[in-house]
Amino acid sequence: MDILGIDIGGSGIKGAIVDTQTGELKSERIRIPTPQPATPEAVANTLKKLVDQIGYKGVIGCGFPARVINGEVLTAANIDKSWINVKVEELFSQATGQKVFVANDADVAGLAELSFGAVKDYKGPVLFLTLGTGIGSALFINGQMYPNTEFGHLKFKGDIAEHYCSDSVREKEDLGYKEWGERLNKFLEYIAFLTQPDFIVLGGGVSKKFKKYESKLTLNTKVVPAATLNLAGIIGAAMYAKSKS
Ligand code: BGC
Repeated sequence: MDILGIDIGGSGIKGAIVDTQTGELKSERIRIPTPQPATPEAVANTLKKLVDQIGYKGVIGCGFPARVINGEVLTAANIDKSWINVKVEELFSQATGQKVFVANDADVAGLAELSFGAVKDYKGPVLFLTLGTGIGSALFINGQMYPNTEFGHLKFKGDIAEHYCSDSVREKEDLGYKEWGERLNKFLEYIAFLTQPDFIVLGGGVSKKFKKYESKLTLNTKVVPAATLNLAGIIGAAMYAKSKS
């Protein structure tokens, strides 16, 4: 079954059609910059543009950078505050004329790793983090996900973790990958202490750059980049829609 998966991020909205049997992309990956301000209406219009551009009809899965429960947005750390309490599944379904299923971006990206990547067939505890504008998280055990964790919001170094070592902080503060990797290492050490996973999987754009900061990740817990790399968000979104439809 081929399903359109969409990954909504703070800076870009990315989508492609995914073969949900294999996790392979069946169309070109399209990226449209996230409109600023990223209000519900503006994002819904951009989503429609992306769906039209791909020329897709059918069920759609969507990862969204907030806590989303029962189709409703409950938090707004890196998105416009007007998103709080928006029924996002209804909004996107109306805008695109297709049935859209929406869940937290890190949870759906984790689902891609559970289906095709680093967590496939693994039964022990694993922590998945996605590093982008913010830091999203998902926990797994026995091949099941514990959803809606928000470890990027843990208090850390006088602020919250995602204000210390997200990828957007690396860009904003113009940190080299080595310097940023040292920060990330401190946070991973802390969160590994709190959650005690067998290993940690890193997703988001920085998963492709893993070699650049790997040497700084000296914590005792093994860290690997997501096997589906920065496509985890798109692939997982399609898998989420498949699980719901
Ligand atoms: C949000 C999370 C999201 C993460 C990554 C955080 O600021 O609170 O829900 O998963 O950013 O986008």
